Amino acid sequence: AAAPVPAKEDFFGCLVKAIPARLLYAKSSPDFPTVLAQTIRNSRWSSPQNVKPLYIITPTNASHIQSAVVCGRRHAVRLRVRSGGHDYEGLSYRSERPEAFAVVDLNKMRAVLVDAKARTAWVDSGAQLGELYYGIAKNSPVLAFPAGVCPTIGVGGNFAGGGFGMLLRKYGIAAENVIDVKVVDANGTLLDKSSMSADHFWAVRGGGGESFGIVVSWQVNLLPVPPTVTVFQIPKTVREGAVELINKWQLVAPALPDDLMIRIIAFGDTTKFEGMYLGTCKTLTPLMSSKFPELGMNASHCNEMPWIKSVPFIHLGKQATLFDLLNRNNTFRPFAEYKSDYVYQPVPKTVWAQIFVWLVKPGAGIMVMDPYGAAISATPEAATPFPHRKGVLFNIQYVNYWFDEAGGAAPLQWSKDMYRFMEPYVSKNPRQAYANYRDLDLGRNEVVNDVSTYASGKVWGEKYFKGNFQRLAITKAKVDPQDYFRNEQSIPPLLAK
Ligand code: FDA
Repeated sequence: AAAPVPAKEDFFGCLVKAIPARLLYAKSSPDFPTVLAQTIRNSRWSSPQNVKPLYIITPTNASHIQSAVVCGRRHAVRLRVRSGGHDYEGLSYRSERPEAFAVVDLNKMRAVLVDAKARTAWVDSGAQLGELYYGIAKNSPVLAFPAGVCPTIGVGGNFAGGGFGMLLRKYGIAAENVIDVKVVDANGTLLDKSSMSADHFWAVRGGGGESFGIVVSWQVNLLPVPPTVTVFQIPKTVREGAVELINKWQLVAPALPDDLMIRIIAFGDTTKFEGMYLGTCKTLTPLMSSKFPELGMNASHCNEMPWIKSVPFIHLGKQATLFDLLNRNNTFRPFAEYKSDYVYQPVPKTVWAQIFVWLVKPGAGIMVMDPYGAAISATPEAATPFPHRKGVLFNIQYVNYWFDEAGGAAPLQWSKDMYRFMEPYVSKNPRQAYANYRDLDLGRNEVVNDVSTYASGKVWGEKYFKGNFQRLAITKAKVDPQDYFRNEQSIPPLLAK
């Protein structure tokens, strides 16, 4: 039974009994705006129109998180969890509805404990991916982990929604390489794999953040990489044959050996072919000559380095150092809009030519394309909530940035128009999207009788999770039937009839 509520105790009064006051920030506190802004990466969600939290809680251990849940439930204050704050729609720290909520910000919980002998690590949700990669490399030059490309992404959100980067063809997504978790559930209980249900463990590894409790830390399998990897970046303009090359790429890249990933960044009239090969230049160049001779890749394009150096190299370029992996003060905070697609059938060459016309229109964004195939496509769809597997040729991400608040009209229009233009050439029924590339245009939950409805969730949920959405909703009903942990796109509970 719930403990009786002391007279006059409010949410804050409840928190300070269990959590040191220096870890709590009320809206009235002078530090509140700075702490809130610390990891807002999309400046659209900084403006005053956004519904902000009443409190920010910055726990330093799991018991603080448990107390936050207990107090939140007792005083009807909801919690949103923030790890790295990269959520495209800002749902880790803002609400679209006017509601009383606090943010549990995990930026003080970021330990990385590597056991190189066992090839495993425990990593706290508040660590950024760069800290995990750095921690692994400090212990072993031949171990790695397949998560996101950008080093400032939070482990918490990235693993919760899937998580993929340049190792996706070799090792799949981050979530499928998680072997244990510590989670605080909607009752404030701390669970791990052995004390939670199999469905709950399945759901936290890819079913999206927020819905299934607050993940404190994750145990992962570390995976072998050779001492030397090779990176290349080859830009080609339309005049240099970008249309023909990308047309060939879409067939070649998903069928390459799993040691080679060639992604594409298309912007303006240019396509950058960015490759990472788990091996040396000496074996890469003959492989490229036989599989993709049209690209003209040769030894002069090779940048050989240990895997750990390839992470900042790919993200920031040649001048980047390992310290960039640890830098949490990234000042690049544009206004941004993102959408995503999955492609199963080759896009006709004439359409690629039209895409390059779109990429030079006013307000045009860029397109980042990750080839699938190999490991990421070999895992069965139901093995984890992440369903984009067999038959996927590549994933597209449309990215638009602008740098002043008033400058959004053209990029937002481009993003909508481009997404409409691409419809005939991408996945259908449902048109799939990647959960970690959150897009509220796909749909929002409706809340009826204080619970998000299954019918409203299905609209966006089957785009992210396909047939796995229903199992996620049934699991939600078992672990959080009252829908305490929720946001505009959290998994709604599907109560058994
Ligand atoms: P944030 O803290 O905003 O959380 C995201 C969601 O997860 C929110 O709903 C939040 O409540 C919830 N959540 C956070 N921590 C949680 C926890 N401990 N327990 C439970 N729920 C939690 N993705 C990718 O796979 N590969 C890539 O290469 C990239 N690249 C990339 C670059 C840039 C610049 C951005 C802004 C984003 C990406 N992404 C990406 C997308 C990224 O993976 C996605 O935004 C993640 O959800 C971000 O995780 P954070 O912890 O940073 O976000």
